[in-house]
Amino acid sequence: MLKNITLHVVSDYSALSTAAAKLFATYVAANPVGTYGFATGGTPEGMYEELCKMSESGKLDLTKITAFNLDEYVGLAPNDPQSYAYYMENRLFNRTGVPMANRHIPSGIAQCPNTECNKYEELIHKCGGIDLQILGIGTNGHIGFNEPENTFAGQTSHVALAEETINVNARFFDDINDVPRYAISMGMQTIMMAETLLLLASGDSKAKILKEALLGSITPHVPASVLQMHRKLIVIADKAATKYI
Ligand code: PGA
Repeated sequence: MLKNITLHVVSDYSALSTAAAKLFATYVAANPVGTYGFATGGTPEGMYEELCKMSESGKLDLTKITAFNLDEYVGLAPNDPQSYAYYMENRLFNRTGVPMANRHIPSGIAQCPNTECNKYEELIHKCGGIDLQILGIGTNGHIGFNEPENTFAGQTSHVALAEETINVNARFFDDINDVPRYAISMGMQTIMMAETLLLLASGDSKAKILKEALLGSITPHVPASVLQMHRKLIVIADKAATKYI
């Protein structure tokens, strides 16, 4: 049973991108000054492209939102093309005019990552929490960089990437040895505080883990499984990703 979860199954990645962008735009229209949480990776790229098009044609205004990203690689500066800061600038923020002062991503080059984590967590609270958080899911069930562990990660923290994550993310780098081994990630508790969660999943590679996350037992070995306890979880997934549900 899918309990409190709203699941939209769409035909393919292109339909997922359009549906996610439309839903996101509805939230922004209702709350143009809201605080929105963003994810990176391959899955939301199509959605961000749709949002840029909507913004460019005057159908969406992101110029008053506040943005918080889920995570950043430790060791990568914002101008590094592999950093998530660079990803967001180029795939969404610059093209939609999200105000510079409202773009929040943990710094990957902070002298003390733990201090950076605490500052980031405080800033989210100071801004009143996140209204709508976009999420992807890793093939190992991670959310942000909250990797499978024996306990659920709480607040924003300095984390080690799992071997599986390093292998999967190597496709974005020239060499697997270039993939950073550490990151700063919002914790599961931080993510669970968001008013609404929008989880996106596409493709066969996500089918097994999506089933475990939505229908399996709630365990820190599948971090995404805790999302079952959220009061408002919306999932948009394509047929391939939902083939076991
Ligand atoms: P992906 O990554 O969108 O590139 O599949 C998702 C994730 O690792 O959380």
